[in-house]
Order: sequence, then C-alpha cells, then structure tokens
Amino acid sequence: MNAPAKLAAPIGILAELTHRCPLGCPYCSNPLALDPRVEELDAETWKRVFSEAAAAGVLHAHLSGGEPASRRDLVEIVAHCAKVGLYTNLITSGIGITPAVMARLSEAGLDHVQLSIQDADPVSADKIAGYAGGFARKREVAGLVTGAGLPLTVNAVIHRANVARAGAMVELAIALGARRVEVAHTQYYGWAMVNRAALLPSRAEAQAAIEEVERLRKLHEGRIVIDHVIPDYHARYPKACMGGWARRTLNVTPTGRVLPCHAAETIPGLEFWNVKEHSLAEIWASSPAFNAFRGTEWMREPCRSCPRKEIDFGGCRCQAMAMTGDPRQADPVCHLSPHHSAIEAALGNPASAGEVEYQYRRMVRVPAAAE
Ligand code: SF4
Ligand code: FES
Repeated sequence: MNAPAKLAAPIGILAELTHRCPLGCPYCSNPLALDPRVEELDAETWKRVFSEAAAAGVLHAHLSGGEPASRRDLVEIVAHCAKVGLYTNLITSGIGITPAVMARLSEAGLDHVQLSIQDADPVSADKIAGYAGGFARKREVAGLVTGAGLPLTVNAVIHRANVARAGAMVELAIALGARRVEVAHTQYYGWAMVNRAALLPSRAEAQAAIEEVERLRKLHEGRIVIDHVIPDYHARYPKACMGGWARRTLNVTPTGRVLPCHAAETIPGLEFWNVKEHSLAEIWASSPAFNAFRGTEWMREPCRSCPRKEIDFGGCRCQAMAMTGDPRQADPVCHLSPHHSAIEAALGNPASAGEVEYQYRRMVRVPAAAE
C-alpha cells in the first residue's frame, strides 16, 4: 500500500530512550520483550533523530521509557531537543529525579513533566508499581517540578485495584499542584493483556469511576484540566487509536526501530525501519509498517462501508490483532464487529479480586501471553 500523495508531517515523536525502569507496573505499554541496555541508541544518535524530527516538522518530543532518568545523558538529550526547537515533555515515574537532576533538566530547557501515579493510597500504589517507597518519592518529585516552575501533568492509569479511587487520584493531582491530570483506563495489549484477568474492572466499577471523574471535572473547572480516556471495553464505538495509524505521531524504541504505535510489534509481518539505516522523514513517508494501515484502503467490512471510518479509522489495529488474530478487522470494541462477543466474554468472566497475582513488567522474564 502506498503513502498518500500529500502526507502531513507528524506532530509528535515519542522517544523510548530506554526500557530500563525501577518500577514493574503490570499494565506497562512497553513490549514483553524489552530492549537491553547494551543495544540502546547512544546520545549522538538520539540527537540526530531529534534534529531530523524538528526538520520534518515535528513540534513535540515526548521523552519516555521505561524510565528516561535511568539514562545518564538525559540532560544532554533534553538540551539538544530545546536547541532544535522541540517542545520537550518528560514522561517519568519520578524515580531517579533528584533535586540536582531536576535543576539541570530545567536549566537545559525542559518544558513540561508528566508524572505517573499508581493510586491515591500509598500502600496500594507501591504494590501496583512493585516498588516500595515509590509513592512518597513521587510526592517529592511533584514538588521539585512545580518548584522549578514547570507545568506538571499527572498520569493515572485506572484498573481494578484503584478504580474505586479514580476521584481520589484527581484530588491528589490537584494537591500535587498539577495543571492537568490524565485519567486513562487501561488498554489491554502487551503487559496489560498478560494481566487482564487481574486488571479488568467490572462494568459497574468502571461506570462509577467515569461518573466520579466527570463530577470532579465540573467541580474543578478552571482549576485543573482533566483529560479522561474512558475504558474502551465498555464503549459502543472504538477510539481512533493514535488519532489513526501513522497520521500524527511516531514512536522510536530504545534500539531505534520506528513504530506507528507502541504496540505495533505485536502485529506479525510488519517491517519496521530503524533510524540507524533511514532518516526519520524517509521512515514516515515510506516505511512498510507505516503504510500498512494508513488511510482506509486496507479495511475489511464492516469498516470499509461504515460512515465512521474517517472518524475512528476502525479503532486499534493492535487490539484487533490481539483479539481476532487479524489486524485488518474492526476493533472488536465496536458493537458492529463480528468479534464483539470476545469483549463481552472478557467482561462477563472477570477473576474475583485478589484471585490473580500480577506478572510484573521486568527486564528478564518474557511471560507467555494470556490468550
Ligand atoms: Fe469504526 Fe469500523 Fe466500527 Fe465503523 S465498523 S464504527 S469504522 S470500527
Ligand atoms: Fe497499536 Fe492501537 S496500540 S494501533
């Protein structure tokens, strides 16, 4: 499939600077097979990639991981992003951000910090992260961010263990001085799919959380921006995952593979190009993986003749792959999908609370997929 004749530039680049991370969140968006440290791109290559991104029209650099502060050259990379004119957003667990590191990041030109929290309850938060003392550390890091005068966004991923405290997590974000909080219900692929039986809340729990967050949105209007990503297993239509495949953003893995989304490697047969061999502009325009599901030509029915196909682009390709075995199918979240019963079956058969232990995300072990 070919790229459209007039291709818009990507808006953002998500750079997974490393897969190393002290936390082990069981819903991590990194792949099951994590890239080892010895194969990570060096700082010079990352700097070239960010220069190419800026030249290609990219506006936002999201520095992510793993935990990006696990890299000793993080400040050098941030300084380069600022130099080439990218708006630089650090997505962090907070672990590894000392007062000295925060001061150097701010001085280097960092624009924004997104800090993840696992729960509003400290004991539960540390259990979810698989890291004792993480909750207390995050509170300190939030203070460092706001103390440096940088805008803070708090990221809260919702699942069964914290769904009853979705509202408390919004209140915590306000107490931490965040200008924005992103409340996102877990997306089920990769590590989250492995842990789905332990993570999936009931429909009633998810609905109560949605209503509480919406109530707080009205209550705190003008005080904090609440971005609310509702759980797609409970929706009638899917979301336009990534704003549509290869339409807005690209991801670069620690070893330089360029992906249309963080889970794209779960789709067999896609050919990913690497920044070591191609420029970012070449990859965006011509990489086989980017062109595989660009636009709507690749669609099967019911998407092909659906009036919503330019709105949601058939939903998530990775979810279609995970649940139907075919990435060209409609996302089974869609009630029009012939595979929608797979969602109903998962919702109708949750394990009881406490019955299932997490398989924490770790570098060394690659668990078998749950399905
Ligand atoms: Fe979206 Fe396809 Fe469902 Fe139509 S049939 S709403 S395009 S997923
Ligand atoms: Fe890959 Fe949705 S996560 S398309």
